[in-house]
Amino acid sequence: MDKFYITTAIDYVNGAPHIGHAYEKIITDVIARHYSQRTDDMYFLTGTDEHGIKIQKTAAAKGITPKELCDENAQKFKDAWNALDINYNQFIRTTDDYHEKAVQKIFKKLVEKGDIYKHSYEGLYCQGCECFLNPKDLTEDGLCPDHLKKPEVVKEENYFFKLTKYKDAIIKHIKDNPDFIVPAFRANEVLNQLEDIQDISVSRAKSNVQWGIDVLDDPEQSIYVWIDALSNYITALGYDTETNSEKYNKYWPADVHVIGKDILKFHSIYWPAFLMALDLPLPKHIFAHGWITIDETKMSKSLGNVISPTSVIENFELKEPDAFRYYMATSAPCGRDGNYSDDDFKEKVNAHLANSMGNLLNRTLSMLVKYFDGEIKEGSKVASHPELVSGSLELLKKALGTVKIVENHFNHFEIAEAAQEIMNIVDLTNKFVTDNAPWTLAKEEKMAECAQVLTTVLEVMCIVAALIYPYCPNIAKSMAKQLSFDLSVKLDDLTADNIKNGKLISKEEITPVFLRVDSELADKSSKK
Ligand code: MSP
Repeated sequence: MDKFYITTAIDYVNGAPHIGHAYEKIITDVIARHYSQRTDDMYFLTGTDEHGIKIQKTAAAKGITPKELCDENAQKFKDAWNALDINYNQFIRTTDDYHEKAVQKIFKKLVEKGDIYKHSYEGLYCQGCECFLNPKDLTEDGLCPDHLKKPEVVKEENYFFKLTKYKDAIIKHIKDNPDFIVPAFRANEVLNQLEDIQDISVSRAKSNVQWGIDVLDDPEQSIYVWIDALSNYITALGYDTETNSEKYNKYWPADVHVIGKDILKFHSIYWPAFLMALDLPLPKHIFAHGWITIDETKMSKSLGNVISPTSVIENFELKEPDAFRYYMATSAPCGRDGNYSDDDFKEKVNAHLANSMGNLLNRTLSMLVKYFDGEIKEGSKVASHPELVSGSLELLKKALGTVKIVENHFNHFEIAEAAQEIMNIVDLTNKFVTDNAPWTLAKEEKMAECAQVLTTVLEVMCIVAALIYPYCPNIAKSMAKQLSFDLSVKLDDLTADNIKNGKLISKEEITPVFLRVDSELADKSSKK
């Protein structure tokens, strides 16, 4: 694999980030970190979407300028991603000067190409969606089905984009590339939507929407927020209608745009059409994730159940965001909706990260210290005496096989499914320890067998550390440190021989990699 370019949706900044925004950034970061274990050239873009009527109105209601509102809230997004260890390479704000100038040029190019024309129009505009809605898509009460608000009647002379011109080419692209839209079950929805698409309005009268990028040569009109927003994926790389930027040439087309299911239409219909009009290649995959509910209820300001991502970390006094990252990344099968609940969070991370994975490493290292003074004995590796302990060779082979299975899940953006495979190998390893009872072997003075059981487990734990790293980077680092294992190894270079012979660890160097949430130990440690 030569490069991997991954992006998130860029968030509206009319409020602070919530757990739904965080879910997307976490799964994107998990995918990005996984691919950084497969290529040296991974690029991860995120950012904020800062123009439009919604932001203009929120700022006015607060008595501040739109730019002040954007600055204040964009910082909150950055701070939250920092607290969650979201390791992006670039953060784009659509109010960045280079982006605004590039969008103006993109719009001009589409006009020159004859794909944008002026047209007088009356339609129903939903501020939540920042788009015109088709009357047939409204609820019985005439509300936007997503935002449950009455759309505003807008009568303006706007610029229109000839979306219909690209309809057949987009249908063909979706049908010819069954993995363009992930998960595949969403492709049918898009094909249905394509059936009755019309040309779309791509500007708003400046008299109604002031907080937007001016159309070049026509400052009475501001460019539609979705042209502005979608273009971020290429303007961030330096595209401004010329394809001469080094970064653009290196990274475009994107390998995947990670977005929520609610904005799939914009990414799989509008965006491909704009790109086709600009004669640019299309992204390889659009991965539409599901939505996160809180205690099985849709998050909403009116219900007062909106959770900030950092509040979970603060409430549980987590020193690191790993547990929250793990929980969110495994909260839903690929593309399906997930749920957050405090109780479920505690139960899952305690069971998986503390009891199964953390404990396994901790007690194996403790036994290594107790029986072998923390040393990996010469000749204790499975390869030297594969017949010595039944099941040890199979376990190691299975762990290496898990690497391939995990990679394959990531090829299809199945992040929760990949994590399940990691936990399966942890469970098998726990069973291997129980079945072989190294404490009994030591008592019976079968030290060669005992050494092989422990060494085999520690070999598997190196593989587990590498595989869990994208979800739990801090826990993985702590595991790797105690195993003297180099976490920067590429997944394809992992072997069954990761542990060095000789002294590995002393009693004082053994530390739990994850303390149970709400346990006495966790309480004590957080009070320190
Ligand atoms: N600004 C547009 C995206 C432009 S991308 C060129 C937008 N912003 S948003 O702030 O409303 O949403 C940002 C992302 O967060 C979207 O992908 C959206 O699906 C996701 N989520 C918002 N609420 C969510 C949940 N409750 N659960 C999961 N993701 C959710 O749309």
